[in-house]
Amino acid sequence: MSHRPSQGTTDTAQRPEPLSYPFWTTEGLDLHPDYRPLRDQPLAKVRLPFGEDAWLATRHEDVRTVLSDPRFSLAEAVRRDQPRIGRMPRAGGGLIATDAPDHTRLRSVLSKEFTARRIERLRDRVGRIADGLLDRMVQAGPPADLSEDFAFPLPMTLICELVGVPREDHGRVRSWADIVCSGSASPEVLQKEAADFFARVNGWLHAHRQEPADDLLTLLVRACDEDGVISEEELVGVLNELLVGGFVTTTNQIGNFFSLLLLPRPDEEDLLGRLRAEPALIPKAVEELLRFVPLLNGLTLPRYALEDTELGGVLVRAGEPVIVSQAAANRDPEAFSDPDRVVFDRPGNAHVSFGYGTHYCLGAHLARLELQVALERVLARMPGLRLAVPVAELRWRSKQFFSGLHELPVTW
Ligand code: HEM
Repeated sequence: MSHRPSQGTTDTAQRPEPLSYPFWTTEGLDLHPDYRPLRDQPLAKVRLPFGEDAWLATRHEDVRTVLSDPRFSLAEAVRRDQPRIGRMPRAGGGLIATDAPDHTRLRSVLSKEFTARRIERLRDRVGRIADGLLDRMVQAGPPADLSEDFAFPLPMTLICELVGVPREDHGRVRSWADIVCSGSASPEVLQKEAADFFARVNGWLHAHRQEPADDLLTLLVRACDEDGVISEEELVGVLNELLVGGFVTTTNQIGNFFSLLLLPRPDEEDLLGRLRAEPALIPKAVEELLRFVPLLNGLTLPRYALEDTELGGVLVRAGEPVIVSQAAANRDPEAFSDPDRVVFDRPGNAHVSFGYGTHYCLGAHLARLELQVALERVLARMPGLRLAVPVAELRWRSKQFFSGLHELPVTW
């Protein structure tokens, strides 16, 4: 039950000038201060670098409504000049470009592969990949870049193995993801990179059609060729989501989790020391770090209202786009007590970092497993882990989809 005063429904005719969005964070992992004044207003009007103006929802309750109410459509966004930070319009065809019933049909092809029980079977494999990477780092000796040497190759190797991307093409997946996530590539570069990448995708599909294997590519090819459940365009769309969404997010979060644990936090408990002393706390700590770290710079995929819909007391008219800030919702004091503190054993942690509702992250169990194993193994293998450079020398990324550091130089 909300404790906020009810403001009645406001008609969209009284709208103020749009705020410039996203609120780019230039340093650190704190929630951008410009979200604070929005806490007491239901929706704000925002203008992104490209596309139409949008409504921004920041309250936990409103964010969950936008993400789960079928009156807010993702499929519509593909047909519109959707608000976005990069030039590239969103491609159709995949899970995050469809609404039910198409979405339900596409997701049913993959959902069995991503259940908690199925993913738990991968724990040993994830541990072995992590240990292999740490062996190399320990052998070479400190210092090391925890981002490049560990946070990147762990999820990358795993998703490429699960999908069935040949080892020699892992680098291509990375360069394609870099382009997609930079938001600043010129149309010519984008076009060239897309042509290159999708030519490789066609090569993998051809190889899997000739020689099926025990991987997700084979599963998708069968659903397309034998069962007729998905079209070739949908297959490629889903594959693209699995490959890009399957490592970029986790890579960034591994780096961010360690940055948060290693950076000095005056007036806060020694988070790293606590995890070292109580490794059984790691699964809960992962949930709390997922809540706390504002991974996406407010850049969730816009939804379009299919009909006039009241949201947080504001009338969103049919055809208007709405963006949600998961980062702000995760710090909403109505949903989390003491939201700006990291509390590993926080009870009932209803963060929305994996989304909410029908598009809830397909890879959430996989991501959790990777994040847990990453924390466990690094803490066990690198006693005395600490930053290798003064805090002032750390280089934060700016104006990109994902917040975080360029490199994370560590010693142990
Ligand atoms: C820390 C890591 C991750 C985070 C924070 C994350 C976050 C999210 C979020 C917020 C959504 C919902 C988007 C929306 O509703 O607009 C989503 C969807 C999705 N994620 Fe993740 N993700 C992570 C890891 C992964 C991994 C490892 C995979 C690999 C399988 C993956 C695959 C997907 C897919 C396919 C969707 C679309 C689901 C649908 O539309 O039904 N994600 N993710």
